[in-house]
Amino acid sequence: MCGIVGILGREPVAMRLVESLKRLEYRGYDSAGVAVLEHGRLKRVRAAGKLRNLVERLAREELTSTIGIGHTRWATHGGPSEANAHPHIAGRVAIVHNGIIENFSELRDELRRRGVEPESDTDTEIVAHLINLELTEGGTPKEAVLNVLERLHGAFAFAIIFEGEENLMIGARRGSPLAVGHGEGEMMLGSDAIALAPFTSRITYLEDGDVVFLTREGFEILDEERRHVIRPIQFTQAASLLVDKGGYRHFMAKEIHEQPDVIGHTMAEYLDFAEGRVRIPDMPVDLAALDRLTITACGTAFYAGLVGKYWLEQLARLPVEVDIASEFRYREAPLSEGGLSLVISQSGETADTLAALRYCKSMGQKVVAVVNVPESTIARESDVILRTMAGPEIGVASTKAFTCQLVVLAAFAIAVARARGAISAERETELVRAMQQLPRLVVKTLEHENQVAEVAQELARAQDILYLGRGINFPLALEGALKFKEISYIHAEGYAAGELKHGPIALIDEHMPVVVIAPRDRLFDKTVSNMEEVRARGARIVLITDEEGASEHGAKAFETITVPAAEPFISPMLYAIPVQLLAYHAAVFLGTDVDQPRNLAKSVTVE
Ligand code: AGP
Repeated sequence: MCGIVGILGREPVAMRLVESLKRLEYRGYDSAGVAVLEHGRLKRVRAAGKLRNLVERLAREELTSTIGIGHTRWATHGGPSEANAHPHIAGRVAIVHNGIIENFSELRDELRRRGVEPESDTDTEIVAHLINLELTEGGTPKEAVLNVLERLHGAFAFAIIFEGEENLMIGARRGSPLAVGHGEGEMMLGSDAIALAPFTSRITYLEDGDVVFLTREGFEILDEERRHVIRPIQFTQAASLLVDKGGYRHFMAKEIHEQPDVIGHTMAEYLDFAEGRVRIPDMPVDLAALDRLTITACGTAFYAGLVGKYWLEQLARLPVEVDIASEFRYREAPLSEGGLSLVISQSGETADTLAALRYCKSMGQKVVAVVNVPESTIARESDVILRTMAGPEIGVASTKAFTCQLVVLAAFAIAVARARGAISAERETELVRAMQQLPRLVVKTLEHENQVAEVAQELARAQDILYLGRGINFPLALEGALKFKEISYIHAEGYAAGELKHGPIALIDEHMPVVVIAPRDRLFDKTVSNMEEVRARGARIVLITDEEGASEHGAKAFETITVPAAEPFISPMLYAIPVQLLAYHAAVFLGTDVDQPRNLAKSVTVE
């Protein structure tokens, strides 16, 4: 996740861009830069490291331009160097970007065939060259950008300026946030309203697929069908900008929709897309010598650990035991001196998880923590931390932290599998390439939100709901039930689909909706037979599956929610989205306090 900003102003813009970037540093800070149109020519100043390094560089320049773009970077493609820092320039085009272009290597090969050799390792520079080539072939800036956007796969937010265009800035978003700021005779672009707060409180939030053309006098937006659209101008009070809802009604909604962005940011922490490799910090034990791994956490984090178990056992052939921290801390589990335990916690302050960590340490174990707050107590008491890069999660119901925990655990499982010689380098690259598609696939999954909201309103009328899943989707059933019950206050229970006939099927009648989580994988047919068992007893079924599963068995369901077809390895991150949306929209329909549900707290720091 990076921070981008653009100002089409009436006064010198360079230091105003820096002021915005300071507010975006939470999004990443391994390099920064600005580009302006100085006397009609593109002028760029960049610096590796903290923003203050850029400020020092700028102090040596006399920049009077009133149009510019800026960027603070968290490296995704290419190391955190000045050469890879944004803005990137190609001919008449300067661009800043937040996101991941999946098909950048094919596009880079095309550029080379057309005689263009990129200077940096970044996917962003490839986009600048493609736009510039369109310009050299006679296209207008608007035509050039629209043509190139059609060719990009992945998630992005762009701000683009052009040599020779003193009164034009173009922005585009797909999966990464982008907002338009309305000033007095000036216009801006920013990753969020926080970045634009120094200049305006009048914000227009762009939607996925939007392209916006700014002049100082106004703006024009085309949607993903390239139709002219009007998006509302909203007033964001400066005080609320510290934790801005980003135009959403609830933090939970914003955080659900941030997932393409923060999943990409978390992947960038552990996946080398250029090489197709996983890069995790050095572990405190020899992973190849491990004979077991203990995972412990609470709530949603515990369910993430259960998903991790499937990956670690199936990929790395490593026996894994996952336990609820409040039980584990008193179970007196026998743990071997020098062994490895892993704890998972969004807040890093959950008392039971902290106590479990301390028990592991007392048994001589090394501890790795998957945390979202790197300065938290659990992070400080662990030997190694694997950060989720979800950003602040305000909604009590955990959403983006969960999918980011899954990304970290998936990367960790691949790394452990490689260390143990359980998978080849080729299989590692296949899995990395599968993960690389996540931002785009999550965007596609979110496109079904309106249908999911209608299904949620049906479920909101039930007294009890059953969630079913098999294999790696069983923890997703548990997570879906937790999401639903904790914000709608309706009793919901997750069950292994195969367990139904061992008791729970006695609950089934026409009043009991059943949510079945079943991608068309090797266990699909077995889950379908479970679905038939409950359908025969009158249950209304909500089937969450992919297009193939829907075409085969969707007709048997009361409702079918489709998720894009994907490599089974990454299905947990995708199937988390519909169950989050079901819970959210049911709660909204019922009028409960979505962000602060009754009896709960964001971090349970007491036993
Ligand atoms: C999840 O939606 C809940 N808010 C809760 O189960 C949470 O996951 C649990 O309390 C663990 O919190 P942590 O990740 O901060 O340790």
